[in-house]
Amino acid sequence: MATVVVFGGTGYTGGNVVREASARGHRVVSVSRSEPKDPVEGVHYETGPVEQVAGQVIPGADAVVAALSPRGDMSGRLVDVYRELAQQSAAAGARYIQVGGYSSLRPEPGAPRFVDGEIPEQFRDEALEGEATRVLLAEEAPEGLDWVFVSPAAGYGAWAAGERTDRYRVGDDVALVDEDGGSNISGADFAAAIVDEIDRPTRHRAHMSVAY
Ligand SMILES: NC(=O)c1ccc[n+]([C@@H]2O[C@H](COP(=O)([O-])OP(=O)(O)OC[C@H]3O[C@@H](n4cnc5c(N)ncnc54)[C@H](OP(=O)(O)O)[C@@H]3O)[C@@H](O)[C@H]2O)c1
Repeated sequence: MATVVVFGGTGYTGGNVVREASARGHRVVSVSRSEPKDPVEGVHYETGPVEQVAGQVIPGADAVVAALSPRGDMSGRLVDVYRELAQQSAAAGARYIQVGGYSSLRPEPGAPRFVDGEIPEQFRDEALEGEATRVLLAEEAPEGLDWVFVSPAAGYGAWAAGERTDRYRVGDDVALVDEDGGSNISGADFAAAIVDEIDRPTRHRAHMSVAY
């Protein structure tokens, strides 16, 4: 059993990770400003702004999952907040899994990342900020930090929760395309991939994509 701290544990991504990790018997701590609408039995919910709560919950963690989103009043603040979470995770000796976006992937090896090309306006700010959080890890991560930056498929999101299939593929920084030419992953399968990576690490200081 590991102690898994999930920042954004009441959100779409974090909520699925909390459910998955708890179902596998891990000790799970969720952090969010609001109380959970559907609390998972056995999960410890800390409510408060990330900056206030981080220092109380990261010491003692085996793995930290950062699944906040750069929306609302978090817009423009994610890089600074994640720098702090990365530093505290390194100090605690915790594995650090940071969730980002599809746009940080490349269409093929060596090609520019999607975020460097045309991004639909409604996704642009979030894509740019998500990419900045990837660069933060790639260029500034504390030396001893065992980090993974995880990008979901293009069609991933609360608007397309999908179903659990217990089937997914992982790649590096190149987007995976399924047999129908699509790019999708359900919330439950994405969370399973993250918790599998916590349970049986395959990547270290690396970018990981998850899709069907
Ligand atoms: N296809 C894609 O590329 C794609 C699609 C979706 C998401 N994503 C990425 O996945 C990540 C997670 O997104 P999501 O949609 O799962 O997020 P979400 O559903 O909006 O959840 C965000 C979570 O963070 C918490 N939170 C926000 N600000 C906080 C603060 N200051 N202190 C403490 N908790 C805070 C929220 O709870 P409170 O508001 O109660 O604090 C909530 O639990 C983001 O990086 C996003 O860009 C990528």
